[in-house]
Amino acid sequence: MSLYLDIVISSKGNIFSVHNNYLMTQDNREYMEDKLYNDLNEQYLISPLDSESPIFSPKIRLGILASGNGSNFEYIIKSIQSKQLNAEISILIVNNPNCLAIKKAIKYKIPYVIINHRDFNSRLKHDILVMKKLDELSVELVVMAGWMRIVGEEIINRFKKRLINIHPSLLPSFKGVDAIQQAIDKRVTITGCTVHYVQKEVDSGSIIIQAAVPIKEQDSKETLKKRIQTMEHKILPLAIAKVAKDIRSNIKDKK
Ligand code: GRF
Repeated sequence: MSLYLDIVISSKGNIFSVHNNYLMTQDNREYMEDKLYNDLNEQYLISPLDSESPIFSPKIRLGILASGNGSNFEYIIKSIQSKQLNAEISILIVNNPNCLAIKKAIKYKIPYVIINHRDFNSRLKHDILVMKKLDELSVELVVMAGWMRIVGEEIINRFKKRLINIHPSLLPSFKGVDAIQQAIDKRVTITGCTVHYVQKEVDSGSIIIQAAVPIKEQDSKETLKKRIQTMEHKILPLAIAKVAKDIRSNIKDKK
């Protein structure tokens, strides 16, 4: 590879600027193309992307539903702490008494309640108790952050346009369980994650925000999941802010 060195000398003889310019040899062209390709591949697309998180006030009261590790729950907390999200978490509701989300609630001193679905003989009875808890605390927006349960129409109707879910695929592709494996099995080269409103049909409500994640040849399910989750942690707080802004402006419109 050849190298040009540009030295700019001022009238007083001082060197004030030095530039390195690469000569466009074949080697160099390949280098540039490779760099361009890699740079582009590192940019995971979020859409729609506003330059800033939507602004609204007063604070929105959130209810978080989780069944698993609670990494999304934790990133919601971090967005609130860093003032990127004008919200407070009124309650974390878990259906699984052993889930790690509980540990995070304890760590960040967030109130939580375990409503174990195994203690109920019908989905409706479980849903009603969840709903009661959310109502009791005047929750305004409900976020299913890894809630491994199908919610019934009672909750959906009670929280119309105020109940959202995060799913690890670019919906409408790969609905339902094991979406990451479904994408790998279909050999798609781009997958991602979606935040959407919840409606009766699973993973079918209207889409709020999505992030695209390329699947690399060497990806395992675990490595891909890790990159998808990194994007989930970015888009979920953004989606919450977008929906909260709508909730706030609807309240104003009705006044
Ligand atoms: C996320 O991948 C989400 O898309 C899916 O469940 C997972 C929850 O992860 N619905 P975590 O519990 O937030 O770490």
